[in-house]
Amino acid sequence: MYFVNWQRNVSVEDRDGRKLVVKRDKSTKIFHEYVLSGTFASISLLLAHPSTPPSPEMVTENEGLEMRKMLDGLDIPTPKLISLKDGELVEEYIEGGDLYRAVTEGKIDAFHFAVAGKMTGKMHNAGYAFIDNKAQNYLVRENRLYRTDLGFIKKDTSVFSRSMDIGSFLASIMDISEYRDMEKAFYEGYVSETKSGFAYLSLVIRNILSVGFSSDSRTVLRNMLLDSSSLIRI
Ligand SMILES: Nc1ncnc2c1ncn2[C@@H]1O[C@H](COP(=O)(O)OP(=O)(O)OP(=O)(O)O)[C@@H](O)[C@H]1O
Ligand SMILES: [Mg+2]
Repeated sequence: MYFVNWQRNVSVEDRDGRKLVVKRDKSTKIFHEYVLSGTFASISLLLAHPSTPPSPEMVTENEGLEMRKMLDGLDIPTPKLISLKDGELVEEYIEGGDLYRAVTEGKIDAFHFAVAGKMTGKMHNAGYAFIDNKAQNYLVRENRLYRTDLGFIKKDTSVFSRSMDIGSFLASIMDISEYRDMEKAFYEGYVSETKSGFAYLSLVIRNILSVGFSSDSRTVLRNMLLDSSSLIRI
């Protein structure tokens, strides 16, 4: 799968008897952020929706307490932040793993995807976009879903950024054979919050991001051929 974590070294450590997750910036993080920002800007230009990516300074600030409090107010839980300094972030460990892994290991069903859709809808209603919105950035604990990797959040109501959230989420699960059920659940969760379907651009972005980046291109292509017209708002 394309979505390996390449910005930070992520490890689980025991500190004072507590299991915590430690994310240390790789020396190449700033470079990678520029690459990600460049990709975001290029796709936006290519699709004639010019849009600026978040600056590298914002990326660190976004991981802080203020953003987590704002998300909590929107009913989007995040792991408890323990510390954030000198390129090292320590947060609570969420033991169920990320949404992509949990579903591929058969541990969860479509319910959690509806919750991810609701969270994305709540962000959009509040005038924000996640930008880096993929199943690997949602964590599962029993019946609850948490959102991690907050660096790219943007105050942005543009069609492009919203489509990026939807398109990248769908692209991240397109190599799963039960894709259809997950897509439907995500869609229904999203619409229950926003009362509106996906912009057509979401599927264009989904197809651009999923081709070539996935571990199973046969499943991706098969899922791409499914009729998705019912997801699109007219
Ligand atoms: N608090 C946590 N509890 C449990 N697992 C976690 C936690 N935070 C992250 N992970 C796991 O580590 C992976 C990478 O974390 P994260 O997305 O924060 O790093 P990243 O370097 O920004 O990754 P990328 O650039 O690929 O999105 C997640 O997909 C998840 O599987
Ligand atoms: Mg991530």
